Amino acid sequence: MASANDTRQAQKDAADQNFDYMFKLLIIGNSSVGKTSFLFRYADDSFTSAFVSTVGIDFKVKTVYRNEKRVKLQIWDTAGQERYRTITTAYYRGAMGFLLMYDIANQDSFNAVQDWATQIKTYSWDNAQVILVGNKCDLEDDRVVATEDGKRLADELGFEFFEASAKDNINVKQVFERLVDIICEKMNESLDTNPTLVSNSKNGALTETPPPQSSSCSC
Ligand code: GTP
Ligand code: MG
Repeated sequence: MASANDTRQAQKDAADQNFDYMFKLLIIGNSSVGKTSFLFRYADDSFTSAFVSTVGIDFKVKTVYRNEKRVKLQIWDTAGQERYRTITTAYYRGAMGFLLMYDIANQDSFNAVQDWATQIKTYSWDNAQVILVGNKCDLEDDRVVATEDGKRLADELGFEFFEASAKDNINVKQVFERLVDIICEKMNESLDTNPTLVSNSKNGALTETPPPQSSSCSC
């Protein structure tokens, strides 16, 4: 669970000026679908088969580059267990992107996707971008959710869709890169329709105050 120290560290990372944009992302979905594993694979290129269920919420920071812009990703890994729901939903506000994850070998986790989507709608910004991720695609023999079903549900919900494996490192980087891309696309659309909404290159956060010099997200 994020301690006061973690929160201070997050604030310190957020305060680090060495980037052009900062995107806050959240990974959500039922317990044991592989959210923590997915983040560890992406941030540390590591994987363990041991299951240590997340308590509350945790985060990692990773910087990516988009058209010579440094984009700092603050990625929050939420606990899937119901008892932490009040804590975790408090972090939805301000998130620019979500990875909504299920396990292709676990029907319950797929059945819960609709409820998770409702949570996003209830607690997050309207503009938040979502990618539906069917994790554990290495477990083909245990598959209970067809790829087509995942795709169809994603279409219905208006989300993009990937199958992935934290274990075999399939589509992990691609999912995060796509999420960054669609957030950038959305930002550019917003700038076109609402020029007062600009990226403040000083602190990288979206703000409604005019910047020192007007710029648009060129990613
Ligand atoms: P909570 O923290 O309780 O919400 O769970 P979580 O979604 O963070 O799940 P976690 O990443 O802890 O993974 C649960 C179990 O699934 C662990 O034993 C992982 O090793 C395993 N796991 C995660 N990703 C994969 C994958 O891509 N393939 C396979 N085969 N196992 C995976
Ligand atoms: Mg976890």
